[in-house]
Amino acid sequence: MSRLNRTGYNNAMAQRLIEELKELIGFTPGDEKALRSVADGAAPHLPWVIERFRGVLRSDPQAPAMLADGEEFSARHKQALEEWLRSLFEPPEGEALDHDRHAPGRAHVLVKLPQHYVITAIEVARQELEGIIRGLNPEGAGRILGALRKRIALELGLVLDGYMQHYAERIRERERSAVEAKLTRAEHLAEIGQLAASLAHEIKNPLAGISGAIEIIGEEMPPDAPHRPIVNEILGQIRRLDAAVKDLLIYARPAPARATSFDLNEVMRRVLAVVRTEQDMQNISFEFDGVGTKCEIRGDETQIEQLMMNLVINAAQASVAGDAVHITTSGDEEEVVLEVADSGEGMSPEVLRRAFEPFYTTKAKGTGLGLSICRKIVEVHRGAIDIDSNLGDGTRVTVRLPRMLD
Ligand SMILES: Nc1ncnc2c1ncn2[C@@H]1O[C@H](COP(=O)(O)OP(=O)(O)OP(=O)(O)O)[C@@H](O)[C@H]1O
Ligand SMILES: [Mg+2]
Repeated sequence: MSRLNRTGYNNAMAQRLIEELKELIGFTPGDEKALRSVADGAAPHLPWVIERFRGVLRSDPQAPAMLADGEEFSARHKQALEEWLRSLFEPPEGEALDHDRHAPGRAHVLVKLPQHYVITAIEVARQELEGIIRGLNPEGAGRILGALRKRIALELGLVLDGYMQHYAERIRERERSAVEAKLTRAEHLAEIGQLAASLAHEIKNPLAGISGAIEIIGEEMPPDAPHRPIVNEILGQIRRLDAAVKDLLIYARPAPARATSFDLNEVMRRVLAVVRTEQDMQNISFEFDGVGTKCEIRGDETQIEQLMMNLVINAAQASVAGDAVHITTSGDEEEVVLEVADSGEGMSPEVLRRAFEPFYTTKAKGTGLGLSICRKIVEVHRGAIDIDSNLGDGTRVTVRLPRMLD
């Protein structure tokens, strides 16, 4: 199996590229031999070339700061350069290309080293190495210099290919994230909804089973059994889970509205009767001015009940012991107006802005679906829902629903 590096480039591909470049440039085994013949003679002069080379890189004001200082980086850089200069006297190998050329290529792309530096620096290396070879005064100097130029051309091709691979990778990454960004919020939410719905379905039935079993265990226990509170606690938690699951289902797959005519005040009385029995709402008073009056509308009664329940619970959860939640209903021929007002903690502008977002919650045990379900229900009924809230000043939620009565 061929080893793929991070760019998906493998040694076989590298080797093929080398062969193609050699052919293109006309780099022959004779050239290889010519370069090898001066490798040992040139070796002692390489540190000088490295200084020149680094000098060129550093002279540009845009050069990355790491080239200018950093002992450790300098040492590593010098060593890498020396290895590279030595390798110029050898024909490139696929394996070496993968490692030597692509690793720096990647680093250069990452530190945003402008490529013209590298190309200029390679040109500097060529000039210096030519000087060294001339200084060695070997036999067949012209042939060797020609081989060096071809070898440098080959190197340039390889380095540029390294850049290309890494830039391609970058571009692919960018395209990927752009595509992801295009998955609009709505689509994301639809996906979440689907997921939530299937999850909720999976949870619902086992939950009912567990709850039934625990109830039986509870019933069989004597009233003073020491584990009775635990059983009650478990049942409470199951109820909480069940409510969350129901919320999820409603949010993900709202049932089609079934319209009937009903009395809004009657529904509110039912909601309050339930809420008042809740353990943690005992110290909150619910003041409802519609007691005894009628406020008829046409719509889905179950959904409207859910809407009211969510609003009243939110108001109560924002309140502290001794606070009151005020509920009013009013209306004219066209529409009814429901208001739920509390004097609780209120919302910051950020919370207010996000309150209707599904799954947005500031509560440890919230699912964050309450208000988004409310909004859906109101939309189905072609109404409107508005929140007026200031931090520390309480919250007033106003729901307007057309009566839809004929
Ligand atoms: N009456 C209110 N007073 C202050 N903040 C509120 C009120 N109603 C809603 N919020 C804020 O809006 C957020 C979203 O409310 P929403 O009803 O959608 O979810 P939740 O109440 O957190 O959880 P869930 O309703 O699913 O149990 C709440 O977490 C809370 O921060
Ligand atoms: Mg809520």
